[in-house]
Amino acid sequence: MSVKVAIVYYSATGTLQAMAERLERTATDAGAEVRRRHVREIAPQAAIDSRPEWRAHVDAVAGEPVAEPDDLDWADVVLLGSPTRYGNVASQLQQLLDTTGPLWSEGRLADKVYAAFTASQTAHGGQEVTLLSLYTTVMHWGGIVVTPGYTDPVKFVDGNPYGVSHATAPRTTPRWATPSSTRSTTSHGARSTSRSASPRDLGAPGRRVPRSRVLAVGEKPWHPRRRVVRSRYTGRRWSET
Ligand SMILES: Cc1cc2nc3c(=O)[nH]c(=O)nc-3n(C[C@H](O)[C@H](O)[C@H](O)COP(=O)(O)O)c2cc1C
Repeated sequence: MSVKVAIVYYSATGTLQAMAERLERTATDAGAEVRRRHVREIAPQAAIDSRPEWRAHVDAVAGEPVAEPDDLDWADVVLLGSPTRYGNVASQLQQLLDTTGPLWSEGRLADKVYAAFTASQTAHGGQEVTLLSLYTTVMHWGGIVVTPGYTDPVKFVDGNPYGVSHATAPRTTPRWATPSSTRSTTSHGARSTSRSASPRDLGAPGRRVPRSRVLAVGEKPWHPRRRVVRSRYTGRRWSET
């Protein structure tokens, strides 16, 4: 039996949609059964129409299935995604989370693996707070929060051990970091499930699934473009990651 992964997210203009699609590909490649579901748009039509890219995205995903509480109930692993909105979770996703009372009261959201992903315009625009806000809900459910930490070298590049994040403004997140980060979080989440279940659940019968590894003290993280640079301010040298 394969691991069931629900990717539940909100996207107004397509960034989270693209991240969710990438997560879906990674989870599917890992042998998981995947439900990718965007949450229902609840903003007033006038607000949507005020931004052509928002209207275009709403129209583009009109035929796709929307997330229901049942998708959370169904899954072993839940990946929650929201754009950062004034340093917080988008109300559209929050509204879905706020309808999970019946599942919560029966303990049906407990003991699953959860991870979160977000995007913001700027690198320090509140991504960590958005992820932590989502994890607060998960803690009330009794879920198992699985964060990437620094278990993958890419985390020394995007600098966010709390989850997958992407900054849309140019020259913030390197182009390749978000794809690598989504790959690393999906496989890390699936591995974490496999610790309590069987590695066979990942769809790789008989194969041992490697554990994630935290770098040893003093060990250099891998980086494809590592080079030594000198601080403009102190003149001290350090290894750029
Ligand atoms: C109402 C609103 C609030 C936002 N707040 C922030 C913010 O606090 N920090 C930030 O860096 N970007 C902020 N953004 C930018 C979005 O987080 C960013 O564009 C995100 O990638 C949008 O994802 P989407 O394309 O999936 O909707 C905000 C955007 C909107 C519309």
